[in-house]
Amino acid sequence: MIRSVVRGNGAALPRRIMKNADFEGMVETSDEWIVQRTGIRQRHVAADDETTASLGEDAARAALDSAGMTPADIDLIILATSTPNNTFPATAVEIQNRLGMHHGFAFDMQAVCSGFVYAVATADLYIRGGLAKRVLVIGSETFSRILDWSDRSTCVLFGDGAGALVLEAEDGAGAITDRGVLAASLRSDGVHKDKLFVDGGPSTTGTVGHLRMEGREVFKHAVGMITDVIEATFSEAGITAEDLDWFVPHQANKRIIDASAKKLGIAEEKVVVTVDLHGNTSAASVPLALSVAVADGRIKKGDLVLLEAMGGGFTWGAVLLRW
Ligand code: ACO
Repeated sequence: MIRSVVRGNGAALPRRIMKNADFEGMVETSDEWIVQRTGIRQRHVAADDETTASLGEDAARAALDSAGMTPADIDLIILATSTPNNTFPATAVEIQNRLGMHHGFAFDMQAVCSGFVYAVATADLYIRGGLAKRVLVIGSETFSRILDWSDRSTCVLFGDGAGALVLEAEDGAGAITDRGVLAASLRSDGVHKDKLFVDGGPSTTGTVGHLRMEGREVFKHAVGMITDVIEATFSEAGITAEDLDWFVPHQANKRIIDASAKKLGIAEEKVVVTVDLHGNTSAASVPLALSVAVADGRIKKGDLVLLEAMGGGFTWGAVLLRW
């Protein structure tokens, strides 16, 4: 059977780093509160010339370099983002143009923090369906543009950045030992739409709006939803937590990550945590975390890696792949 195998990965971060202490004069908060409640120590914040398209382009170029490919080799770009450069056209198309790519096709995918997991699962279906051979999957966000910088309960939590993977079709035996995407499980439930949302949009206010979140409500649902979807993925693949080499969860909150890993029986040393460095970068958080663990030599060819995310909607999902 056809498998979607990772050929390369890359990341891009805005130049400016904002430490927790930098909020102390802006809103009533402290480094201690932020670290204790979330595990976040710093985040990158985009300058005016750094956009979802420019960060996505930089991450895409890095992923292509690591795959030993050029834009000419790619036939599909899927960009996961909730902070596009414009309402339309899709920022994926803008990235396609920035890469000098005038063949194939590109589109955006909007599932907030779960966007990258949705995009990898979607790319895998395009590849297995024969509609694409090599896909650039990008998660890129500039959440700093939709934050209410006077709201301490949200502005300290998010950051900007981008990450990307190149997936390529390869023949596999149809076994768990194959490289590539092995199983995926996606969920959403709009009954929760008012717990984490942006209070503007083209068809309602005609404005971009600001992020609003009932943090405690999100927290309450997160661990159960994450563990349910991961158990569904384990059962589809016929594996248990012990078979995993690496767990790369969405980086929203260290307490959610720890509680999910504990409930699933995933050993602490297998969990990749970068929330301290990047904050919550929404659809960019999983590929950014992957880029750190690949660069420092933890994730290696042949490793069994579980990706997971949960976000606004709510949306949630997991992808199991062999690197
Ligand atoms: N600094 C200091 N105090 C603060 C801050 C801050 N930055 N923010 C809130 N507080 C205060 C609150 O006002 C509250 O004060 P009160 O008790 O006087 O009312 C107190 O701290 C406790 O607030 P809680 O909201 O109960 O704090 P909690 O322990 O739940 O932590 C947090 C808040 C970090 C937001 C947590 O609820 C959380 O992480 N939730 C999940 C968020 C998440 O994962 N979101 C991303 C989902 S992915 C996506 O799609 C974007």
